[in-house]
Amino acid sequence: MTRKIVAAGASLAVIALVGAVGFGQKTSAQQARAKGPATSAADMPPTTPLAGPEPKWLFTMTPIAPIPPPAPGDEVIQHLPGNSITFPLSRVKDRYHPADWWPKDHPKMPTVVEYGRKADGLFACSYCHLPNGFGRPENASLAGKPADYMIAQMKAFKEGTRTGMRMPAIAKIVTDKEIADASAYFASVKAGPWIEVVESKESPVWENEAGLMVPVEPRRMEPLGERIVEVAKDQKRANLRDARSPFIAYVPEGAIAEGEVVVNNKADPTKACTACHGEGMRGAGSIPALAGRSPIYIVRELYEFQSGKRHDALAPLMTPVVATMTLHDMITSAAYIGSLKP
Ligand code: HEC
Ligand code: HEC
Repeated sequence: MTRKIVAAGASLAVIALVGAVGFGQKTSAQQARAKGPATSAADMPPTTPLAGPEPKWLFTMTPIAPIPPPAPGDEVIQHLPGNSITFPLSRVKDRYHPADWWPKDHPKMPTVVEYGRKADGLFACSYCHLPNGFGRPENASLAGKPADYMIAQMKAFKEGTRTGMRMPAIAKIVTDKEIADASAYFASVKAGPWIEVVESKESPVWENEAGLMVPVEPRRMEPLGERIVEVAKDQKRANLRDARSPFIAYVPEGAIAEGEVVVNNKADPTKACTACHGEGMRGAGSIPALAGRSPIYIVRELYEFQSGKRHDALAPLMTPVVATMTLHDMITSAAYIGSLKP
């Protein structure tokens, strides 16, 4: 009962703030920053976060490489277990028409999601985020997130109030119509189980392949320490961009129970994540659902809010929440949120 009232109070506060700030408008803090010597808010140096210097294991994404030329083996026909559809390897690698292995799992994709726009070098959204929008640890899950939230993020990427290794360049060439189509599409796809969160002392030794943590072969383990290591359950299927081949997130022992305390913050209910992100972190209004999403992505975003790199229109709602979070708090809350049913 009390919790319900608190939640209702918090969402009223959110609505008020959303109204005051408005999607895409600048807050007074951002305006103040913009008035300084920097030419735009994006030029402002980020503050040193409480969570410490940028952890290497967290920010794995590498600068974009040129599209590789056709290679021998590109025409070799690929199969997935339990699927009669086949593709040559070239279609798996095709940035402008990537393989869609499970077309019955999602509605018909709009052109920008299925093909992008080759003439202008705009990759298909589905190449990275997968046709069902489930995404991979090095990018983001989009399935079932609110359309207006995604539209606002595209604006933030374009204006530089949110940084990233891929999206700022994409946001500059994609049209408003394409953004609207893609956002409506991904919002309409239901998120499903995709990441298994496993508490462990050890995790596979990995190497960085274009941002993805790929276990070295032959497999060996190393101490996990204060990290999250997120790898494909089946690397061969992930290489074929199989949108039914899930991931596994190794998190420190005890992280899930500790994270539950942070997320449902009973001591200060206004800081409870569920006050804004909804019961079970399944989203509320324009605030995105996070249940069952990539824990490593969640930590990355919490870190970016704290460092000030992500300071878009609605970030002021997150800023006070992350202000006192250590890297440990971020890891445990992300572990708990990732373990929830999407
Ligand atoms: C080359 C890979 C790639 C392609 C293609 C791509 N994205 Fe992304 N997307 C990313 C990455 C990586 C991130 C995380 C931010 C970053 O590093 O840029 C992201 C993040 C996002 C987010 C933020 C998600 C959130 O929950 O806040 C949205 C929205 C998004 N992408 C939409 C799109 C749309 C729409 C398209 C197609 C027009 C697209 N993306 C194409 C890689 C990609
Ligand atoms: C007062 C409301 C509020 C509270 C409390 C809150 N959030 Fe948020 N959160 C938001 C809003 C609004 C956004 C979207 C911000 C934006 O547009 O950049 C957001 C965005 C996020 C994102 C980025 C989502 C994405 O898809 O990129 C993460 C991760 C997140 N919150 C985690 C948390 C966690 C963990 C907690 C608790 C420790 C929490 N939030 C508490 C309002 C809140």
